Amino acid sequence: MRMNSRKPMTLHRLEQMRAAGEKIAMLTCYDAAFAHLLDEAGVDVLLVGDSLGMVIQGHPSTLPVSMEQVIYHTECVARGNRNAWVIADLPFGSYQESTAQAIENAIRLMRAGAHMIKLEGGGWTVPTVQSLVQRGIPVCGHLGFTPQSVHALGGYRVQGREPSAAEILRHDAEELAAAGAPMLIIELVPSAVARDLCAHLPMSVVGIGAGPDCHGQVLVLHDMLGLTPGRPPRFVRNFMDGASDIGEAVRRYVQDVKSGVYPDDAKHGY
Ligand code: KIV
Repeated sequence: MRMNSRKPMTLHRLEQMRAAGEKIAMLTCYDAAFAHLLDEAGVDVLLVGDSLGMVIQGHPSTLPVSMEQVIYHTECVARGNRNAWVIADLPFGSYQESTAQAIENAIRLMRAGAHMIKLEGGGWTVPTVQSLVQRGIPVCGHLGFTPQSVHALGGYRVQGREPSAAEILRHDAEELAAAGAPMLIIELVPSAVARDLCAHLPMSVVGIGAGPDCHGQVLVLHDMLGLTPGRPPRFVRNFMDGASDIGEAVRRYVQDVKSGVYPDDAKHGY
């Protein structure tokens, strides 16, 4: 099914989807050609993630990505997209120094074509999130495994397994919601912890490696197309398997997220 007759996505519509139990299908996207293809295939949200440092630039982590690079890729995605909601990542070093630094850089991303910005972490980010929201900049939080803290976290590990860690995660998420963030990505979190968060939080919770019960799912585009070298993480499914082309793979992703077929807790959950 071609989706080009759909209306531009809005924050209000995303909130309606959460209330109605319609799952949000999100993928990362870094250029105009894929923005066009993903939008046509019915992807609700395009994330210009700083994962571009790994899948586009070949770095071992997201840490080297600069503001200029995220701006460039956001402009490319905005030109190719028509109706999807576009989120752009504030990269490492672009918001950690001060709220003023975060506001300045978030404005640059919004001017490049983003509809919302994403930043990682809880606690110390809360005043920044509140300031951005007060200034009309929608914010998506990112908790659980936060790739910009890969070294502090000791590698790519599931977060929130211990009850005390799950409690901190829940507290951080509640604070972000109270600061006005309408959306939260949770990465590498046990399915039971994610289920509890989604049941209680007044915001859209989008999971990556967080089980089937989130309000939506996100994957790195290159992972779900089977393009990332090496063994994929447990939560990734290669949607190119059995698909005749990339458009079909993406349409199947949208369909399987919306119907709840993907992710399958037994295969993809923690
Ligand atoms: O940068 C990115 O692609 C992300 C996803 C892993 C959620 O933050």
